[in-house]
Amino acid sequence: MRNKVIAGNWKMNHSPIDTRNFFGKFNDLVKENNHEIILCVPYIDVAAALESTENTNIKIGTQNLNHEVAGALTGDVSVKMLEDIGIKYSVIGHSERRQYHNETDDFVNLKIKAAFDHDIVPILCVGETLYERELGIAKEKIIIQIRKDLEGLPANFARKIIIAYEPIWAIGTGKTASKEDANEACKLIREEIRKMYGNDVAEEVRVLYGGSVKPTNAQELFGMSDIDGGLVGGASLEPDSFAQIANFDKFSMNIGEMI
Ligand code: 13P
Repeated sequence: MRNKVIAGNWKMNHSPIDTRNFFGKFNDLVKENNHEIILCVPYIDVAAALESTENTNIKIGTQNLNHEVAGALTGDVSVKMLEDIGIKYSVIGHSERRQYHNETDDFVNLKIKAAFDHDIVPILCVGETLYERELGIAKEKIIIQIRKDLEGLPANFARKIIIAYEPIWAIGTGKTASKEDANEACKLIREEIRKMYGNDVAEEVRVLYGGSVKPTNAQELFGMSDIDGGLVGGASLEPDSFAQIANFDKFSMNIGEMI
């Protein structure tokens, strides 16, 4: 049985003070939770987040990293710096970075390998645009991303990766992929991993869905055969809503109250 991953991506939101306030409330709400809970916070919040979650079941990640260890790269934060302060996860290849920072699959591939070399588990994001979906080439896009982003990655690392299927048209739009469509895409990713690495690795890799996940749809999405949890943007910013998502399997009756 794969352990579920409930990951939050704060994007460019929350200050260190907000971070302390968030965990001041959130930690208690998920203390009985057995899923892998990860909050990917802005760099400036990392110290506050690590301090606020010491001795809890909550893990802290970043939203990006530079694959170089050090150098003349103004404004970047290196994979080694993150390793040194105890970061164990990082989002890599988010569509917003691919779109606004011109991150190519080649770069994403370098970052994934560097992350593993420094004991950081990548949360790799893949997914199609609305245009690609309407053209009927969503599957091809996802397969190409998986192939290029994981190229040359050894199986002992591949088995630990977390992959998030995030259809770009569902991010921050309030539009969620249907649970069947989301499951089909996550299954497609797993099948591609099976072709590349074989059965054992494919059955171990966690594949998440991301795109307008909310307390009201988390349970139906995370209950699907190939969806191993979620990567949550907007709804991870408030302790109550993110805790309801993380505790999706504990509140089956009160959907109405959760809205
Ligand atoms: P939303 O949950 O706000 O749609 O964002 C999804 C996302 O991009 C997470 O990485």
